[in-house]
Amino acid sequence: MAITDFERYPLTFGPSPVHRLDRLTAHLGGAEVWAKREDVNSGLAFGGNKTRKLEYIVPDVLAQGADTLVSIGGYQSNHTRQVAAVAARLGLKCRLVQERWVDWDDPVNDRVGNILLSRIMGADARLDPAGFDIGIRSSWEDALREVSESGGTPYGIPAGASEHPLGGLGFANWAHEVATQESTLGVFFDTIVVCTVTGSTHAGMIAGFADLLDAGGPRRRVIGIDASATLDRTRDQVARIARHTASLIGLQRDLRDAEIEVLEGWAGDRYGIPVDSTVEAILLSGRLEGMIIDPVYEGKSMAGLIDLVTSGEIPRSSTVLYAHLGGQPALNAYSGIFGF
Ligand SMILES: Cc1ncc(COP(=O)(O)O)c(C=O)c1O
Repeated sequence: MAITDFERYPLTFGPSPVHRLDRLTAHLGGAEVWAKREDVNSGLAFGGNKTRKLEYIVPDVLAQGADTLVSIGGYQSNHTRQVAAVAARLGLKCRLVQERWVDWDDPVNDRVGNILLSRIMGADARLDPAGFDIGIRSSWEDALREVSESGGTPYGIPAGASEHPLGGLGFANWAHEVATQESTLGVFFDTIVVCTVTGSTHAGMIAGFADLLDAGGPRRRVIGIDASATLDRTRDQVARIARHTASLIGLQRDLRDAEIEVLEGWAGDRYGIPVDSTVEAILLSGRLEGMIIDPVYEGKSMAGLIDLVTSGEIPRSSTVLYAHLGGQPALNAYSGIFGF
């Protein structure tokens, strides 16, 4: 099967916008930097990368006749907010397990931002004291069982939709979308920079760009910037999901290890805790481009991009595409980091 053979339920506006970051480019004095904006990809609760993944999962939800989406994430999970929006849009119920993934003592951390939005959209969002983990959790399995026992028909979507068998397809298709936009714009992005945590965003891109390469397209570098601070688990998860997605979309070879590049250095010691480079990246992006990024994910991948460009690891001659995956609602739970 090819990526085009998979059913896609429309939740986004269409191809997400791609534009130059001229002032950031001039500031860095090097590689030409562009952004592709998943933060404005949909009218569903501010969109984001999960909305794209869910486009390939919803056909299965409908085929199974489910009446309740059940998912899991941290208190400030962007993923669970997007699941809540999709449930509202489809007229389904939504049960969310919100774990204490981040040891962050902002007094409204469990009430504002993403969790507030999920509740506004009607989700039953319940707090759980468990810490950060990108794997399958028993609390999520318990929630699925509870929905069944009370007569509902649950559909489980794991953290970040990553462990779902179809979780990589959204961003495999993103790669094809980039190739189409490149021909329209007359540009070639030799380097892609993307934040990676639960893995299926980066993994899908790797599979999609490998597919394009094998169809005669140009070689490019897809750099995942780890924001999990559990690097080995994220790297393994990216590799596994990339290989699975590649075989789903009909790649005729194994992925090379060099095609799976997850870099560390910007996550700090713990998931969800911004470090100095995160805050600097957020301020730089806001002040030079009016582009808002968050302290958990995109601030870390932007910090990575800035360092890789300024150190010359990404050459000055490169044209770089920064994948902005959304996530701004979490900023409301992090006002203290700026000291304003
Ligand atoms: C804004 C944002 N950026 C990046 C990521 C990382 O994506 P993934 O979990 O697919 O690796 C997520 C979700 O985890 C996110 O919400």
